[in-house]
Amino acid sequence: MHRLTVFGATGRMGQAVLRAVRECGDFAVAGAVASAGSAALGRDAVLEGPPCGVRVSADAAAALGGAAVALDFSAPTAVAAHALACAAAGVPLVVGTTGLDPRTVEGLHAAAARIALLLAPNTSIGVNLLERLAVIAARGLGPAFDVEILEAHHRAKRDAPSGTAVRLGEAIAAAKGERLAEQALYERHGDVGPRPDGGIGFAVLRGGDIVGEHTVLFAGDGERIELTHRATDRMIFARGALRAAAWLVGRAPGLYRMQDVLGL
Ligand SMILES: NC(=O)c1ccc[n+]([C@@H]2O[C@H](COP(=O)([O-])OP(=O)(O)OC[C@H]3O[C@@H](n4cnc5c(N)ncnc54)[C@H](OP(=O)(O)O)[C@@H]3O)[C@@H](O)[C@H]2O)c1
Repeated sequence: MHRLTVFGATGRMGQAVLRAVRECGDFAVAGAVASAGSAALGRDAVLEGPPCGVRVSADAAAALGGAAVALDFSAPTAVAAHALACAAAGVPLVVGTTGLDPRTVEGLHAAAARIALLLAPNTSIGVNLLERLAVIAARGLGPAFDVEILEAHHRAKRDAPSGTAVRLGEAIAAAKGERLAEQALYERHGDVGPRPDGGIGFAVLRGGDIVGEHTVLFAGDGERIELTHRATDRMIFARGALRAAAWLVGRAPGLYRMQDVLGL
């Protein structure tokens, strides 16, 4: 049984993690952290459903007492302080929060010299496997196949293409010995002319309550391969995050990725 502290416990992902904790039985909640202005301070960390017995706090250091591992699904501006608190307490940390600025990432690298730290912008097992499959396909198929990445998300999503789509593009570009910045075709409208050789195209759909879909298309002459991942429930991110947290317990200090957890 691993004792787990959750940063961002009151949010959508934090609550999903607490549901996943109840579901899997391998974890106990050690601490639950929200912002100093949170409306849930002092309440049981499980906001709806059977209580877990741990109250929401804004004191990161106190919430780490007795924890074997911590998970962060909070806000980009809060991550650096959480990582510092984990480093001081010697508690390994999984960072699932996205949109981190370069200074925060630098701070995470510094913390990783003292604790095991896993940077996981997408904790879905399936998406990480999709990335690996796409790399294998890109290497195997070579430059005769055009690469296009399609993604679809709910109408409230603000950024485009999704971070996951961009990450897929980066991995494929690297597999081809290239950099995405020089290969990406983000926009097509009007008389754009024939498709340039070697680029990586992106197409974005937005609508309804789509949780998240990604397809990597390799189109050649006379054949094509399509690799698709469809998320229908955000619990996949919570379950993947717990798998990563269990894997991180007892690891040597260093910076890890989901690919390490999955042995990819
Ligand atoms: N890695 C993945 O696979 C994955 C999947 C989904 C989402 N995400 C990322 O996870 C993050 C959270 O997403 P979400 O949808 O759960 O967001 P959300 O519902 O807005 O929840 C944010 C949480 O962070 C807390 N928080 C905000 N500011 C804080 C601060 N300064 N200090 C401590 N806690 C603070 C909030 O607490 P109060 O408001 O109560 O104070 C709340 O508990 C985002 O970056 C999102 O992109 C990652």
